[in-house]
Amino acid sequence: MRDWKTAVADALEARRQSPSQVDKAPFPLIGATLGADEVIAMIEVVLSGQLTMAGRVRDFEERFAAHLGAPYAVMVNSGSSANLLAVATIVNPRRSARLRPGDEVLVPAVCWSTSIAPLLQMGLKPVLVDVDCRTLNIDVESMRQKTTPRTKGLMAVHILGNCGPMDEIMTFAQDHGWIVIEDACESLGANWQGRALGTIGDLGTFSFYFSHHMTTGEGGMIVCQAGEDYDLLKCLRSHGWTREQSNRRDIEAESPDIDPRFLFIDAGYNLRPMEVQGALGLVQLAKLATMNWDRMANWHALVDALRGHPQWQEQLAFPQSLPGASPVWFGSAFTLSDCVQLSLPQYLDGLTRRGVENRPIVSGNFARQPMLDLHGCATDPHSLKGAERLHHRGFYIGALSLPRTPEQTRDLADRLLDFSP
Ligand SMILES: Cc1ncc(COP(=O)(O)O)c(C=O)c1O
Repeated sequence: MRDWKTAVADALEARRQSPSQVDKAPFPLIGATLGADEVIAMIEVVLSGQLTMAGRVRDFEERFAAHLGAPYAVMVNSGSSANLLAVATIVNPRRSARLRPGDEVLVPAVCWSTSIAPLLQMGLKPVLVDVDCRTLNIDVESMRQKTTPRTKGLMAVHILGNCGPMDEIMTFAQDHGWIVIEDACESLGANWQGRALGTIGDLGTFSFYFSHHMTTGEGGMIVCQAGEDYDLLKCLRSHGWTREQSNRRDIEAESPDIDPRFLFIDAGYNLRPMEVQGALGLVQLAKLATMNWDRMANWHALVDALRGHPQWQEQLAFPQSLPGASPVWFGSAFTLSDCVQLSLPQYLDGLTRRGVENRPIVSGNFARQPMLDLHGCATDPHSLKGAERLHHRGFYIGALSLPRTPEQTRDLADRLLDFSP
């Protein structure tokens, strides 16, 4: 009889070759990176019967922290939960320095909905800062202009695997005594001057959603620098419980009339991941460097193919990384140059018809999303020139963490440079 692991690997391969898989768009936004190793790791968890958070999640947290060079890491069930928990931590009354209701927090205008939502949920005021449309990331001049005496924090969202000038940003933040969260949900593996994005501010968040640099299906992680934050994150992740606190015995001694196994010291959530997510994380983390290398190789090959193409007339502008930044592009992003007569929707419709899946740059200019208006934080979208440019002319296609052949790259360049209506 065949070993069950071989049977699983064979079944997976057979499904990959099935017509439903082969008929997908030739250039998808997302490429599945789950192989037999991941599927077997998940089945092992199911067979063990230990479904809820346990040793594999803890092992993954330790390896993730070591991989990034961060002192602490706490896994949660999504990148959005990571942002929620990070913001809940910086407003927590038990934290030695904290933000208070009404404090302003700067956020780049190109970001994700749940980069902003936890700020609103915790009574903080998000203030949109413009982005530099060349890097897609924070525009430092706009950050300076939006700073007021009420500004107390920065949600530094690193867009599409790149970042703004982190030394200038952090110096400015430190001079003003801000608390800094880095939302690195789409930037795992990228660096600024050798330091992993997410490990430069007080707390950093990551997403392991299916399309991200590595995946646990759904999942997220928070890294932090201070033991105090580590304790808060673990307490708030799990019901406000004391069970994972470093000073658990001291806390318990203060409430001798309560069963120490069920002692609640804070208004927590349940944002815990499942053990299968920890198991997936362990396998994917070991492949991260190779997957990121393939992403970057795909990007460089595509840029070369476009620049060397007979039809190339600079119709597409490429995003730039600053000296000091080592990006790992989350997607292959472009801005349609003014020489292209088509509107962005017309061009993207054509691209979709030609089998190249595409999407806006994250959420476009967030000042245009109804969410902020509903919560009394409306901003004039026209005042954010960089974000407006990306909203009206920017898009991205899959970068993929699986290698493309030179033929596929040339084919993709042909499709991108077809401007027929
Ligand atoms: C910048 C950013 N922050 C947060 C998130 C939320 O992550 P998740 O989808 O895992 O909740 C995303 C999702 O793509 C994101 O791009």
